[in-house]
Amino acid sequence: MTKLVIANFKMNGSKDFIESWIQDFFLEQESANDVVVALPSPYLIIFNDRGLTLSGQNVSNEESGAFTSQLSAQMLKDCGAKYCLIGHSEARQFLKEKNEVIKQKFDQLIQESIKPILCIGEPLQIKEAAKTIDYLSEQLDLIDSDEEDVIVAYEPIWSIGTGLMPEIEDIQMAVDSIRSKFHKTVKVLYGGSVNSSNAQSITDKTDIDGLLVGGASLNPKEFGKIAQLC
Ligand code: 13P
Repeated sequence: MTKLVIANFKMNGSKDFIESWIQDFFLEQESANDVVVALPSPYLIIFNDRGLTLSGQNVSNEESGAFTSQLSAQMLKDCGAKYCLIGHSEARQFLKEKNEVIKQKFDQLIQESIKPILCIGEPLQIKEAAKTIDYLSEQLDLIDSDEEDVIVAYEPIWSIGTGLMPEIEDIQMAVDSIRSKFHKTVKVLYGGSVNSSNAQSITDKTDIDGLLVGGASLNPKEFGKIAQLC
């Protein structure tokens, strides 16, 4: 089945960097999977119409108004974003985002027909206390269980940027628990230290719907390989 493979550039890159990333990526790209690139916001508009499916990395929980520094769902839509990450652990940590606000972001995106990608994942203490499933379940409570076409990215915080990965069985257990929260279709992605050496094994050995790739996505050849392998 076609997988959803997302590059999350985080706060990396520049206009020149992305220009050459796109050229190198399309030279190598032979994947039949759906590829999405979450660029830093200013570059969405610049690289709209270049054959990439674009994603925002965050959105305001408000529709419009006196919210200096924020970007509305409509603005993201105008920039060509078809998807948007919300609840990424880095936004939860550095911007102190809480579930209630993340839910409002989810609603703003739906209103503008942008597909939200809700990121969830446990910190190390929770994993060590064997409380991961309860923790994920609580993070998912914000979405109505009857919601359709939900996309959830399971990203254990301790795995992001560390080279550490959960056991395959633990990924599958998280996927099953996420699916069990919804009555309708839900896509579950895995993120956390994904690279071209582990991508295939994650997608072959679990029934995950795709991957969310941080660091390794900055290398267009490496990301192209991941998109091809999974
Ligand atoms: P890394 O792939 O660098 O671990 O980052 C994962 C991530 O946070 C993607 O959103």
